[in-house]
Amino acid sequence: MTFNHSHHHIFHNPYTMKNLLEKVNAALEGVAYPKIPEGLYEPIQYALSMGGKRIRPTLLLLCHSLYSDDTDYAIAAALAIETYHNHTLLHDDVMDNADVRRGMPTVHKKWDANTAILSGDAMLITAFKHLAEYSGSVQEELLQLFIKTTLEVCEGQQYDMNFERLECVGIAEYLEMIRLKTSVLLACAAKMGAITGGAPRTEADMLYAFAEKVGLAFQLQDDLLDTYGDPAVFGKNIGGDILCAKKTYLLLTALQKANAAQKAELQKLLADKIISPSEKIEKVIALYNQLHVAKDCEEAIEAYYHEARYIYETLPIHESKKAPLWQWAESLMNREK
Ligand code: IPE
Ligand code: IPE
Ligand code: MG
Ligand code: MG
Ligand code: MG
Repeated sequence: MTFNHSHHHIFHNPYTMKNLLEKVNAALEGVAYPKIPEGLYEPIQYALSMGGKRIRPTLLLLCHSLYSDDTDYAIAAALAIETYHNHTLLHDDVMDNADVRRGMPTVHKKWDANTAILSGDAMLITAFKHLAEYSGSVQEELLQLFIKTTLEVCEGQQYDMNFERLECVGIAEYLEMIRLKTSVLLACAAKMGAITGGAPRTEADMLYAFAEKVGLAFQLQDDLLDTYGDPAVFGKNIGGDILCAKKTYLLLTALQKANAAQKAELQKLLADKIISPSEKIEKVIALYNQLHVAKDCEEAIEAYYHEARYIYETLPIHESKKAPLWQWAESLMNREK
């Protein structure tokens, strides 16, 4: 069974997804930030208003709606997760030296690194402020989960940076790194929706596990698109991971499959500080192509979607009710940005 074809939309239900996305965007626009100091708040509004897929708050609202019809109650949590996500992007783009995001200059490019750091900090705090709107046991559960998750993201980002400098990184270590930097935030979004919706604990944990699997596929896909994506659609510069010598699934698989000569060439290229960026990218991609690592990556992605699908099917909710959740996963599978 393959999930790669868009005609596979068996449970197609465009209204649910579209309505939730509109709700998220309206809520984000409705958040009033102070006007001054401009240098602090303008970049925040810039970052939050330049689009983005909003997959985390949409997932949160979807999970919430499996257990409650009161969508408004989950909005503050949705705002928390999206504001936090954008905080990570401001800091991540400094760390990854990335100039373009969502087809626009990144905050540290448009302003400077100090701006990305401080506006990013304010976004992190604003995320907690949104969660502080809840009370009682729901607030307690949301905060516990969010604190655990946001610390894990820091751990994942640290491993990501450590790995740039390490020669030998195993696939298992890479997978744990992407679980921490990316996957747990999607999982957190799902579980937060379950918590606001009042889901039974076992189902909240199943939704967490489901989104964790999708999250692994999602980061593998992100790595794939960073090398093979269409720059006009992807919204980020292609080859950024190669220039940082990021230990991606593509690179690790290439190093594993390469013969001695190919391995030496790959390592020499990645360490080369004189070659032009475009030539470095081109030559590394040529090696990736020789070794067919894109196919390995696609297979790994599909395997995680199968695992997610199994958890989805096990979730004890009627198919007609939970269908939008799989539709959400499917929309990520087919993404090009
Ligand atoms: C980018 O996340 C960071 C990763 C975890 C790969 P998204 O791809 O969700 O970014 P936006 O919010 O849609 O721009
Ligand atoms: C995403 O990693 C993880 C976080 C932003 C926390 P990437 O560095 O691959 O994300 P992009 O590609 O810059 O969006
Ligand atoms: Mg990064
Ligand atoms: Mg990055
Ligand atoms: Mg990336």
